[in-house]
Amino acid sequence: MKTIQASLLYFVFLAALLNIGCKENKKENQSETEMVKTESEKNHIEKSAFGETPDGQKVEKYTLSNDNGMEIDVITYGGIITRWTAPDKNGNYEDVVLGFNDLESYFGDVPYFGALIGRYGNRIANGQFSLDGETYTLAKNNGPNHLHGGVKGFDKAVWNAKTENTDDGASLVLTYTSADGEEGYPGKLDVKVTYTLTGDDQLDIHYEAVTDKPTVVNLTQHSYFNLSGDFSQDILNHEVTLNASAYLPVDAGLIPTGELRPVEGTPFDFTEPKAVGKEINADNEQIKRGGGYDHCWVLKETEENLGFAASAYHPRTGRLLEVYTDEPGIQFYTGNFLDGSLTSKNGGTYGKRSGLCLETQHYPDSPNQETFPTTRLNPGDTYSSHTSFKFSTK
Ligand code: BGC
Repeated sequence: MKTIQASLLYFVFLAALLNIGCKENKKENQSETEMVKTESEKNHIEKSAFGETPDGQKVEKYTLSNDNGMEIDVITYGGIITRWTAPDKNGNYEDVVLGFNDLESYFGDVPYFGALIGRYGNRIANGQFSLDGETYTLAKNNGPNHLHGGVKGFDKAVWNAKTENTDDGASLVLTYTSADGEEGYPGKLDVKVTYTLTGDDQLDIHYEAVTDKPTVVNLTQHSYFNLSGDFSQDILNHEVTLNASAYLPVDAGLIPTGELRPVEGTPFDFTEPKAVGKEINADNEQIKRGGGYDHCWVLKETEENLGFAASAYHPRTGRLLEVYTDEPGIQFYTGNFLDGSLTSKNGGTYGKRSGLCLETQHYPDSPNQETFPTTRLNPGDTYSSHTSFKFSTK
């Protein structure tokens, strides 16, 4: 009896709580900006207009923030993170991701700053793969190869957005339907990406997708971090750790050769924190191919669901970024192709190696490499991938 009473009380309490939450949403929805508040997790989300695409689609900006002072701007164009503030050792929050102030700058040929990448993060050799005896030809947008989903990948799509209250607080839920045949991929793919900023400066990203035909999927997030908060500096003094004892060597077109090569004794050993610049110009064939680091590391299996994958630490500011994931690989890219031709948010330019990317993913070219973990998705199954970026200071 007591249990029933307790359950009833709990129910009434929950209903009251939900009702308060709804009222708050409703009230705020009527105004220009939408606020979703979850007191328990101390985070909230605010919405504002961010312009229009050339074909007239409206783009919105959602600002995810918590009570510590972290703010993350996500736009519905490409699901792009345009701004992300993180604390330094004195508690100052500064923007630590490369990007632009205005929407127009994201059109055209930009190196995927902050974007959601799909259907396939990274390269597929010769823009081609076979499934069940059928060959599919993809857009070739990187020499002879296919990169990051093609000419119009998910980074250039306008996503639908809504906010949602979850156990972890207010989340931004982005959805996009990629038509059968888009950029050459088979199957209609329904994609959902959930961004949740927690009360302890952690951004959780959950990717899900379902298809109506067998296909391949490999989603990731392409933020370029510069933990100094000063985009005129390079990232060579950042100390990086990668939880990997092997990496995937590549050919001249940056396609993995299929080998899993031990990092030990090579410039690719980041098992202990190491300054990015220490061996980035080493006389090493693989380093030369990437013009620096531009490779996928094979993450060690961990006990946890979400295992430690990587960290980056900036000594002067004390900023520490940790990456956790359930993916088997991480592309560590040191912004080698940035060349100063793009104007930064503070009016300077993004020079060579002014940002580093830690892209959690399945291995590049998996659809053509039988020994790699599969990226195949069948109808009836749900693609699920989870990554968390956590900021703190040290
Ligand atoms: C790739 C680089 C590429 C960059 C921007 C990274 O994920 O590994 O080779 O230049 O994305 O496209």
